[in-house]
Amino acid sequence: MQGIAGRTILITGASRGLGAALAVAFGRAGARVAICARDGQALDAVAEAVVETGAVCYTRALDVRDEGKVEAWVRGAEQALGTPAVLVNNASALGPRVAIAEHDVAAWRETLDVNLTGAFLTSRAVLPFMLHRGDGVILNVSSGAAAPPRVEWGAYAVSKHALEGLSLNLAAELAGTGVRVNIVDPGAMRTEMRAAAYPTEDPAGVKLAAEVTGVFLWLAGDEAREVTGQRFRADEWAERRSSP
Ligand SMILES: NC(=O)c1ccc[n+]([C@@H]2O[C@H](COP(=O)([O-])OP(=O)(O)OC[C@H]3O[C@@H](n4cnc5c(N)ncnc54)[C@H](OP(=O)(O)O)[C@@H]3O)[C@@H](O)[C@H]2O)c1
Repeated sequence: MQGIAGRTILITGASRGLGAALAVAFGRAGARVAICARDGQALDAVAEAVVETGAVCYTRALDVRDEGKVEAWVRGAEQALGTPAVLVNNASALGPRVAIAEHDVAAWRETLDVNLTGAFLTSRAVLPFMLHRGDGVILNVSSGAAAPPRVEWGAYAVSKHALEGLSLNLAAELAGTGVRVNIVDPGAMRTEMRAAAYPTEDPAGVKLAAEVTGVFLWLAGDEAREVTGQRFRADEWAERRSSP
């Protein structure tokens, strides 16, 4: 992938699951990687795996709902690694999967705050750097649950629908600036979130997060420099790439 080596990539929710797989995949592609999540110990283990690829890794334990800490992470990454070139908004809370009429109010607010407002806060923090340089990529991780109606998926489904709205509005507002915004639905992955959502499923039949990183690398790279305001499903993208 052209256009990734040497660039600074920020990934939220990288203490496990897809975020951790992306951190290693971008490290392997030669990027300078900045990661965050709440669990500092788990982040350090991911950072070690990133460093093993030969990349540098900047970590900060934080909650993406905390505006001040998000801004400090972005500023720290810029100072340690260079201008943020790519932001992946991956951090997410599943929340209770119940009917909206029965939803707990605090859990509703928390899920929307993490999945939607968290992505707004990180985007707002990186944009001055990206706009100054006239170059940048924001990738928002959505879900099949974003397509309504998704019955009894509570605030999670609504938050992903709203995240897609945020992505499309932001892409339109940033048209012509050199900053691109796209949505990725990674599909089912063998992670803690999937196990929580489908506790009776045999995980052996579900893809590893490391198997769906290709579309993120492609969207971050030069080949996708004209692509903005679009939604990608990781499996469809991989099929298109492999068909002659
Ligand atoms: N797994 C699937 O099958 C599937 C399918 C479709 C879409 N997705 C989407 O793919 C993305 C990754 O999911 P995953 O399956 O890898 O989930 P996961 O295993 O539950 O990991 C979620 C990550 O988000 C972090 N996180 C959660 N709340 C946070 C907060 N308040 N502040 C900072 N970080 C926070 C967690 O770290 P800490 O707990 O350390 O904070 C963790 O690193 C999510 O956006 C999810 O919605 C997943």
